[in-house]
This record gives sequence, C-alpha cells and structure tokens, in this order.
Amino acid sequence: MNESVHAVQTAPAKPAIEPFDAARARGDFPILSRRVHGRPLVFLDSAASAQKPGAVIDAVRHCYEAEYANVHRGIYWLSERATEAFEGVRKTVAQFINAAEEREIVFVRGTTEAINLVAHSFGRYSLEAGDEIVISAMEHHSNIVPWQILRDEMGVKLIIAPIDDDGELMMEAFAKLLGPRTKLVAITHVSNALGSIVDVREIVRLAHEVGARVLIDGAQAVPHLGVDVQELDCDFYAFSGHKLYGPNAIGVLYAKAELLETMPPYQGGGDMILSVTFDKTEYNAIPYKFEAGTPNIAGTIGLGAAIDYVSALGLPGIAAHEQDLLHYATARLKEIDGLRLIGTARDKASVLSFTLADVHAHDIGTVLDREGIAVRTGHHCALPVMDRFGVPATVRASLGLYNTRDDVDALIDGLGKVREIFG
Ligand code: ALA
Repeated sequence: MNESVHAVQTAPAKPAIEPFDAARARGDFPILSRRVHGRPLVFLDSAASAQKPGAVIDAVRHCYEAEYANVHRGIYWLSERATEAFEGVRKTVAQFINAAEEREIVFVRGTTEAINLVAHSFGRYSLEAGDEIVISAMEHHSNIVPWQILRDEMGVKLIIAPIDDDGELMMEAFAKLLGPRTKLVAITHVSNALGSIVDVREIVRLAHEVGARVLIDGAQAVPHLGVDVQELDCDFYAFSGHKLYGPNAIGVLYAKAELLETMPPYQGGGDMILSVTFDKTEYNAIPYKFEAGTPNIAGTIGLGAAIDYVSALGLPGIAAHEQDLLHYATARLKEIDGLRLIGTARDKASVLSFTLADVHAHDIGTVLDREGIAVRTGHHCALPVMDRFGVPATVRASLGLYNTRDDVDALIDGLGKVREIFG
C-alpha cells in the first residue's frame, strides 16, 4: 500500500499532551533549592544521576520507618507487608514499560549489572566461538566491556556498527553487518555522550530477520521517552533507577519470559533456589532465579515511587518540555564563538556535549562549578566516542524534568566567564 495513503488512513489522532510546569516540578526536589559556592545550584548533570523528588525520599523513609523487613523470607506481618510493597513495584515497572508479564522484570543494581547478567548468562549459555555480537560505536563502556570479556573467553566476534559525523547510527551499514552468525545486537537507545536517539524498533526488526536477539541499553532513554518493550519487541531492555529520579543501586533487566526460562542463573545464593543439597540445587522460578541474595528493598520501593511520580507528571509532557529546552540550549550554545557541539543527531534527547576552543573540559567544568553550575566533564565512560570525534573530553550538560531556560541561561553566562578567563 502507498505509504502516505496508509498514514492518512490509519494514523491515530495525537493525544493531547498535558502542559508540563517544570518550574513547579522543580519545587518537588529539595536539593535544588540549595546553594553551592554561595550561588543557586544549577544542576545540569542528570544523565550521570538525576536528583530525587520528595516523593521518593519519603517512600524510602517510610519503608525504613514503617514497613521494613527482609522480603520473601518471613511469615510474620512486617515481612509480608515488605514483600507486598516490593512485589508491587515489579508490577509498577512492568506496567511502566508495558512488559507482558511481571516475571519478565528482574531487579538488579543498575544497567551495568543488567548487561553483565545477559553477557554471563545468555552469552555463555547460547553463544559459541565464531558467533557475532554487534554493538555500535557510541556505546557506554558498560555495553562494550562485558562483550569483550566474552570475546576473550569464548572466541565470539565483536562487530562495531559505525556512526556518522552527527553521531547518528548508520543504519544501512548496520544492516550490512548482520548475518547468519549474528546472535546478539547490544545497542544503546539514547547515547549518554551524544544524546542521539537510536531507532531501536528498526534495529530489532533487522536483527530478528537474521534470528539475532537484541539487548537495549535504556539507561538514558527511560527518563525521557516512553518505552514500550512489547511494541519494540526487544529481547532484553536494561535501565537504572537513579537516572529516573529514583534511588541508586537499583535497576531493571526486562527480558522475554521464554529467554529467562532457558537462561542459567547469573549468581548463586539465597532466594534463587527451591531446594539445595550438597549434590544438587533446584532453582527458583523466574525472575527469582536471577535475584540471589537480599535485594535492595528500600531502593526498589523508591524506584516504585519514582515511576509513580514521573507517571503522574506525564512522560509526554516531560519529553515535550525537555525537547523545547534542548532546542533552546542548542541555539544558545551555537551563538558562542569557538564552541563545537559533539552530537548533532536529528533525534536527540537531553544531552548537550561540547568543546570550547582549546580550553580543557575540566577547566571549563571547574569555572562553571564556581558559578554553582554542575556539568559532567571528561570522556563520559565512552572513550570510543571521544576517539570517533577526535577529542579527549567534552563538557556535557544534560537536562532533567526540573531544568528551565534559566538554567540554560546560567550555563551560557558561565561559559562567558570561561571565555573571559581563558581568552
Ligand atoms: N553513565 C552515566 C553518565 O553518562 C554515569 O554520566
């Protein structure tokens, strides 16, 4: 059918996006009212870790004050309450990313642990020497190193899909890398160093055509885009709580149940077993088979509160606000003489990476810090991206739902100070 006719006939009316009031939401984050070096804090490092709203802080406090005990282990009232609250978050997460079943949600420490779980369980179990894993040239180290470890141990091949000068994945080149030996594609949804949004739906479609599984690193995507794992049809999706306004050291691995059923455990210990003798251990059902040891109970409760908070504000409104801010910040940064934006993809989220003349990124970060402005400087755990763009480091300003044009204006003024000092 003709594409445009198809679009006209079937495109649903766009749902109205609730207007989002960032200045108001900002008041929900106690830390944002503090001063740093005598200046109001301007927090532009949410891609590293987002700040926490009162709702999350209160939920963690309530957990410890009123509902804390170990989970899955006690038959007493308090443990049952804690277990109910903990398992309630599994349901919240499943709904948030539209997983088909709650047992497809595995709680882990964060995106890094989720990727390592897949590498060490799925990777070791189902790959053979000569099999190929495709990643992209814009991966975070956590989506490179686990695969290198497998490569060195098992003789699998690691193949790198290129990105162009704007930091966009080169989809045609990517498609050409896929073949009968491709067993896994592991790719970011949003680049932490460049902000590029990757068309992961298309990646999944192409990978599935050759029978490969797909793992998506969603650490930088989940706070900014609505994610629907069934719509994406991805096999694995990993994200962290702390970038989603939740506590740190709690994250999620989503995996299709059919995969989790066949994968061996990643770690052994309490709660992941049904029975143990010195001869033999029978493993627990999924997802518990992958959750050895006492989990991060309060962190999980906090993650549930973070998802409730973001959902109540509405991700479409948050995304629209952040896109507006991203365009405003991009235009203002481009006015600065000698500033080079690294990462100019058409589809971007939240991240502004740049260099300024020949001033080292750390010097820029230090001057900005004295103005109360927090940005990340360095290689952002993505050294191959720095190599690709021929820079040792960048300054990275990253946006969260609480940022406003005033924050961007403060950054621009701060960069003016850098110019004054370094010429
Ligand atoms: N991965 C985090 C970042 O991009 C820490 O800063």
